[in-house]
Amino acid sequence: MSSIAEEIKRRRTFAIISHPDAGKTTLTEKFLLYGGAINLAGSVKGKATARHAVSDWMEIEKERGISVTSSVLQFEYDGYCINILDTPGHQDFSEDTYRTLMAADSAVMVIDASKGVEAQTRKLFKVCVMRKIPIFTFINKMDRDANDTFDLLDEIEKELGIATCPVNWPIGSGKSFKGVYDREKKKVITYSDTEKGTKEGASTEISLEEEDTLKDFIGEELKDKLFDEIELLDGASAEFDLEEVRKGNLTPVFFGSALTNFGVEIFLQHFLQMTTTPLPRKADVGLIDPLEHDFSAFVFKIQANMNKAHRDRIAFMRICSGKFEASMEVKHVQGKKVMRLSQPQQIMASDRKILDEAYAGDIIGVFDPGIFSIGDTICMPKEQFAYEGIPTFAPEHFARVRQMDTMKRKQFVKGITQIAQEGAIQIFQEFNTGMEEIIVGVVGVLQFDVLKYRLENEYNVEIRLEPLPYEHIRWIENKDEIDLAKLSGTSDMKKVKDMKGNPLLLFINSWSIGMTLDRNKGLVLTEFGRG
Ligand code: G4P
Repeated sequence: MSSIAEEIKRRRTFAIISHPDAGKTTLTEKFLLYGGAINLAGSVKGKATARHAVSDWMEIEKERGISVTSSVLQFEYDGYCINILDTPGHQDFSEDTYRTLMAADSAVMVIDASKGVEAQTRKLFKVCVMRKIPIFTFINKMDRDANDTFDLLDEIEKELGIATCPVNWPIGSGKSFKGVYDREKKKVITYSDTEKGTKEGASTEISLEEEDTLKDFIGEELKDKLFDEIELLDGASAEFDLEEVRKGNLTPVFFGSALTNFGVEIFLQHFLQMTTTPLPRKADVGLIDPLEHDFSAFVFKIQANMNKAHRDRIAFMRICSGKFEASMEVKHVQGKKVMRLSQPQQIMASDRKILDEAYAGDIIGVFDPGIFSIGDTICMPKEQFAYEGIPTFAPEHFARVRQMDTMKRKQFVKGITQIAQEGAIQIFQEFNTGMEEIIVGVVGVLQFDVLKYRLENEYNVEIRLEPLPYEHIRWIENKDEIDLAKLSGTSDMKKVKDMKGNPLLLFINSWSIGMTLDRNKGLVLTEFGRG
């Protein structure tokens, strides 16, 4: 039997971030293939089936009008126990997508080689930077015509403001994609288009000194280009420094093709060595070390009404320290109650598995009778600490809520407040108005439908949503130093407050934010509200 410390040390918990269609799903499936979670024979179909299962689940969620899940996958590879957190994109994008990043210890950023840095990657990246977690870059689809490699790296550095260090280097792309050069081993690994659903094929490793063999495999032109690029690269790119990677200042970059399964295992192996074991987490008493404390966890996501008849909710927790056992008594710090967690389970897409034990780094879902809030701490009864809250992320879509039947004010206020507490939406009010004038802000537009549906179905309240033109919201970081009445903004700016009474500013465009900052010396605005 392995010890608790050994179990924790072999855990790696990371999120995959990307713009839709960059290849996140394909890459994840290949990881699972290496971990043996998908069997070889079945895996050609496995991709379709896996995807089917995930999207079915989402359909069900949409029908029921609840927020779309971020699924968690756990698998074993080479002695590691790996937890992957998926960050849903497209119109499923919501605050949950951001919150998922609060539960990860590192992030893998997948970039489409012909598209470069795209909008959603940029947004998710900001949250990773805020948390200072290591970010690893996989530049995908090298089997298609790709942008110039130096340009791609330049774009990452300029657009995202993180230094890059290529661990390997691509040789050609599209039809002339020949493989990658491993900078550490100083060897070329030749590309083999592996049959879909099988593990990486037999590619050849050629050292740089074997110039003739190299010429045979990649051709003279690409060989010469490679030699030039290596020289340039060794002179220009940032030196590899694991400390800087761990601090989130430097991203190791890998190239490959998830679809044809080239470069995936090389990436996985390097990534697992470079990324961290479960990280200590900040609490009000200081950092809580995963190995030195007994069980503790925090809630990062609440999924409501998975079963409408029972009004059940599932609270997703990230275990931050020690070992969890299903039978143990724990303390819900914010609720000041000692309890047993009910029906602890591991949730993978549509599958649920009741579990008996789990360790720091793992994610569990527990039945929530309506007592947990996002950011809550669970720990052993003898302990006395609370984890730092989860920030509120800036919504990008706003609407005024009109209640159709004013007789149902009570239900309306109750419903909208509860839904806001779950974190599916954020609600704001103008100064000097009551609950009859509510502005709703969401991160993804789908949440508007969710709100309407849930108010109708669960609270029997009909509403009308009138879209507002605002796209940017900023919290006032130094609200105690600022006289709100004297604040002079642009004509499109609106002053509102959140449910805790914190002042916020709404803007139609980012230009107005800059203008407002210019006009009000000393004003500090932030995109993340305090949790
Ligand atoms: P996502 O989760 O990031 O949204 O992307 P996903 O993996 O679903 O991939 C999006 C599309 O890109 C898929 O094609 C997928 O097959 C393709 N793709 C992923 N990786 C690579 C790669 O390395 N090379 C190439 N050429 N294509 C890649 P699709 O046609 O939308 O779906 P499907 O019909 O293949 O399932």
